[in-house]
Amino acid sequence: MSNVIKSRKAAVIGCGFVGSATAFTLMQSKLFSELVLLDVNREKADGEAIDISHGVPFAAPMKIYAGDYDDVADAAIIIVTAGANQKPDETRLDLVHRNVEIYKSIIPEIASRNFGGILLIVSNPVDILTYVALRLSGLPENRVIGSGTVLDTARMKYALGEHLRVDSRSVHSYIVGEHGDSEIAVLSSTNISGIPLDTFCEMRGYDNPKMELDEIAESVKNSAYDIIAKKQATYYGIAMSVRRICACIIRNERSILPVSSMMHGEYGIRDITLSMPAVLGLDGVETHVPISLNEDETTRLIQSAEILKGIAEGLEL
Ligand SMILES: NC(=O)c1ccc[n+]([C@@H]2O[C@H](COP(=O)([O-])OP(=O)(O)OC[C@H]3O[C@@H](n4cnc5c(N)ncnc54)[C@H](O)[C@@H]3O)[C@@H](O)[C@H]2O)c1
Repeated sequence: MSNVIKSRKAAVIGCGFVGSATAFTLMQSKLFSELVLLDVNREKADGEAIDISHGVPFAAPMKIYAGDYDDVADAAIIIVTAGANQKPDETRLDLVHRNVEIYKSIIPEIASRNFGGILLIVSNPVDILTYVALRLSGLPENRVIGSGTVLDTARMKYALGEHLRVDSRSVHSYIVGEHGDSEIAVLSSTNISGIPLDTFCEMRGYDNPKMELDEIAESVKNSAYDIIAKKQATYYGIAMSVRRICACIIRNERSILPVSSMMHGEYGIRDITLSMPAVLGLDGVETHVPISLNEDETTRLIQSAEILKGIAEGLEL
């Protein structure tokens, strides 16, 4: 039997750059009334909890404290950001062995306490670690989710919004596949409030936009490398992405977000977790939304899945 969850309680495991920025963002969101912070470095978790608590009078009443695994078991959502981050010139996939070992020390602790909520994986490589968390936890597939390409998709919307001089919220676009080097920007179905991307580009004076759009997709893919070269880590964008995912779950919004979850034959892909638009609500992933892809995008998605599968199959779990 799973624990009864407290619907207004969340936990963040790993309180480094990403975990603390996420906790700070969640404090401001008013989505939760209780937030547990857990880190191998207990002092760090405690310091972050105290510091972030001092923002509560400007937000809404909330208990924020450093805790251990007994404290996280009844949370509605556990967000795992623990693990090594990329150093300059490292890919996300380079982190896999270090972070799988860390997950082996975290996920069984959660599973052994009959966790009944949603496990949201953020550490990289996020698609592989979502697969690892699913296997190590034994939780139902709908309740183990990776933040996936929610961040990349936001970066794409922002970049297209800037390029086209339009509100990024009016840009409807997805990045799918791996959150990483093999990700695919689905330009073929991108639209600006229903207007096809090419048509909107023409309206904005770009006659032959393909090259510029490909450059934008490439720069979005590389943005983590650029940010890490300049400031060693990325955390604000992912913190806002996690806040959006949490809102969608806690409020049972059933929004469509490109989270990472287990594939079951969509585009012929199965037995691997990757990012695909999905209806997301209180029970986690309700259903995938296999958006239409052109031939090139489909080929690249299948290649992305094969890269991830090759890594997942080589893991000793
Ligand atoms: N999914 C995304 O879009 C996205 C975006 C940015 C970063 N990330 C990833 O998030 C992870 C964290 O990045 P960061 O910049 O915060 O790194 P960081 O080094 O600042 O923080 C990692 C934290 O994890 C803690 N930790 C390590 N082992 C632990 C364990 N066994 N139990 C509990 N805590 C443990 C460390 O003490 C540290 O505080 C990295 O893997 C990074 O690549 C993902």
